[in-house]
Amino acid sequence: MEPAFRPSADVPDPQSVAEKWWSANAEQYLAEHPSLGDVRFQWGPEGWTEEDLQILPAVPGRILEVGAGAAQCSRWLASKGHNVTASDISKGMLSAAELLNEKTGIAFPLIHSSIDAMPFGDSSFDTVFTSFGALSFIPDLGPAFAEVFRVLSPGGLWAYSVTHPFSWVFPDSPYADDLKVIRPYGKREAYVESDRAGTSYAEFPHTLSDHINGLVRAGFAIDDILEPAWPVANAETWGGWGPDRGAMLPSTLIVSARRPAS
Ligand SMILES: C[S@@+](CC[C@H](N)C(=O)[O-])C[C@H]1O[C@@H](n2cnc3c(N)ncnc32)[C@H](O)[C@@H]1O
Repeated sequence: MEPAFRPSADVPDPQSVAEKWWSANAEQYLAEHPSLGDVRFQWGPEGWTEEDLQILPAVPGRILEVGAGAAQCSRWLASKGHNVTASDISKGMLSAAELLNEKTGIAFPLIHSSIDAMPFGDSSFDTVFTSFGALSFIPDLGPAFAEVFRVLSPGGLWAYSVTHPFSWVFPDSPYADDLKVIRPYGKREAYVESDRAGTSYAEFPHTLSDHINGLVRAGFAIDDILEPAWPVANAETWGGWGPDRGAMLPSTLIVSARRPAS
């Protein structure tokens, strides 16, 4: 069946849709995106790395990656001496992470959990982050932000990257000439793909105000919002992202927010 947009509330059990899709497609996704590397922390399709942007604390601390996928970012952080835990809803992605841990000799805990119900105690981590994980696959950011707030220690950092909210109004094309608004910005309909069994893939657009209000309501103080430019040196396209479109519009939104110290 054709991809379509549908009211978010009409997508039954988004967590189970995500778990099934990412487990069934883990191998193919990783093969299609070799630029993710095995030990590499990339914040988005532009290719900016944590080494370039320095968003997380450099001083070794307790770090949790949520929606980690094959945990390339966690592996890079572990190689720098951080105490890392990686979590994901997809058992298939966690198996891929396990294989890469064996291949690289860099080991850390890999935990099966959804971002909105994590098996960690309160204040367990100094930093929680994700690079394009989890948030696009849940309709409501509120429960996820509340859960991240809970597992962070006071003063801790929550940093994440997502598809830039403006992207959803345009066609999924990497060419600037195709940048014609085709969907209303605030409609918040889920992008869905279906097969005979029902919904096989679902992504949920969130607006900039969904992010900012969701963080504030969960108790976070926002430190910084980044809309990184497409680097001149990156000629690669990745789905609807690429240098042509990237010269006109940001592809990624990166947010850093803090659980207040008291
Ligand atoms: C685009 S990948 C991001 C991982 C990695 N940084 C990358 O770029 O490949 C999205 C990941 O989010 C995970 N995910 C989706 N919904 C989730 C949820 N509710 N809780 C935790 N992880 C989730 C998927 O299983 C997938 O591994």
